[in-house]
Amino acid sequence: MAILVPTVMAPPVDRLPDSLPRLSGRFCIYTYGCQMNEHDSEKIASLLQQMGLQAVAEPEAADVVVLNTCSVREKAGQKVFSELGKLKRIKQRRPHMVIAVCGCLAQQEGERIFRQAPHVDVVFGPRNIPEFPELLRRVVQGERRVLSLSRPRQRPAFDQWAVYRRSPVVGYVTIMEGCDKFCTFCIVPFTRGRETCRPPRDILMEVQALAEAGYREVVLLGQTVNSYRWEDVTFAALLRMVHGVEGIRRIRFVSPHPSDVTDELIETLRDYPKIARHIHLPLQSGSDRILRAMRRTYTQREYLEKVEKLRKAVPDIAIGTDIIVGFPGETEEDFQETLKVVRLVEYDSMFSFKYSPRPFTTAWKFGDPVPDGVKTDRILRLQALQEEIQLRKHRALIGSLQEVLFEGPSKKRPDELEGRTTHNRVVNVPADPSRWLGRFAWVRITEAGPHSLRGELVGAEGTDQPLSGPERL
Ligand code: SAH
Ligand code: SF4
Ligand code: F3S
Repeated sequence: MAILVPTVMAPPVDRLPDSLPRLSGRFCIYTYGCQMNEHDSEKIASLLQQMGLQAVAEPEAADVVVLNTCSVREKAGQKVFSELGKLKRIKQRRPHMVIAVCGCLAQQEGERIFRQAPHVDVVFGPRNIPEFPELLRRVVQGERRVLSLSRPRQRPAFDQWAVYRRSPVVGYVTIMEGCDKFCTFCIVPFTRGRETCRPPRDILMEVQALAEAGYREVVLLGQTVNSYRWEDVTFAALLRMVHGVEGIRRIRFVSPHPSDVTDELIETLRDYPKIARHIHLPLQSGSDRILRAMRRTYTQREYLEKVEKLRKAVPDIAIGTDIIVGFPGETEEDFQETLKVVRLVEYDSMFSFKYSPRPFTTAWKFGDPVPDGVKTDRILRLQALQEEIQLRKHRALIGSLQEVLFEGPSKKRPDELEGRTTHNRVVNVPADPSRWLGRFAWVRITEAGPHSLRGELVGAEGTDQPLSGPERL
């Protein structure tokens, strides 16, 4: 569990929460799920720090434990309940410990969390984050089982700024929250509510503050980030505005929906160099029959046409995807269509999942007819194919020069730094953190695995063309 780092960034005075209750003690946050949840945890940590609490990594030492949960698949929910089981034993030794459950599973289960885990003190939804200090105050004053759930049209916690962040280099910025697509397998519209966009002025103010605090990259977040619209400002127009912020050198966004990849967006990706040459384009299935049953609003052909347009405009663009195997009714022929698309597109990265029925969704009533053994067989075949593609693509990069932004210590080797290329490839490099963290550098790729690359430093940032004279080290 990572402790979040304070940034020198401060929210504008008018965005500070009104007089927060003061508490002393220590807190620890567990985060499950997507980047939006990670960013929500940063907001929660910021609130707790502003109240006077200190961050710790271990729940044994914490007075307040927050579980920021995900419920996109059943397993994600099971993990939370198993963690709550462990926390119960800790709470027996430390009865004053406050346990809070928030995020998507909290919104989905509500009151039922207290029934299944009576030692939980607070449950709140994703849009109720700004209320957390007040909910906590009520618990500390002796109230039990405090609950606050989001209404679908409630405003998200956009104005809650994260002043404690997981990275001093790459900053998350929420631009919209919720989803109106209602894919038949997906619980997100029920947990995150209706699609709500944040005003461009507020987004730019936050990006500007991040730039001033030394951030080099921003990641724009939204459940269907490219459905963004504020009056006549489209997502592509917003990207161009963010592009104008001095100091920010790289812009990413997650997760776009293929149907909302417009020509305007493709042209913007082509013409604005700070936007990363990478797009995550969730396919889910390659079979038209299954895509229709999933309500994905595109056919295999339409999807492939989008990929072709993107590659025509930005030939080196890296494309990632999400795929679900074993959706109700998926036959071997349907699955073969998925493999066909994977072979045609040759994705640069992929997340693959076994279908998991979720309550409230349309597909819930179809049950879960594809046997787990069949799902396992399909996911293994899919992953083997993808690994082969990734390894081949990565090996072709050996000897090439890549511009890497160093984000933090390598997960594999503590004496190395980890960074990413514009194509979102992870590169590990032996480099001195005090000199290189948060900087761009030119790296020559020396080794390639299916999931990451290794390389050596060649030149420092500030040299746009490495071959025309990088600063030698
Ligand atoms: N907003 C994103 C996806 C959010 S969920 C988008 O529209 O692309 C992340 C991924 O989890 C999805 O892309 C999908 O592949 C997977 N997923 C969602 N619901 C699922 C379910 N019921 N079973 C298995 N995988 C699921
Ligand atoms: Fe879920 Fe579909 Fe919305 Fe993505 S677009 S969050 S998969 S409903
Ligand atoms: Fe999970 Fe909610 Fe994100 S269900 S994937 S935490 S939006």
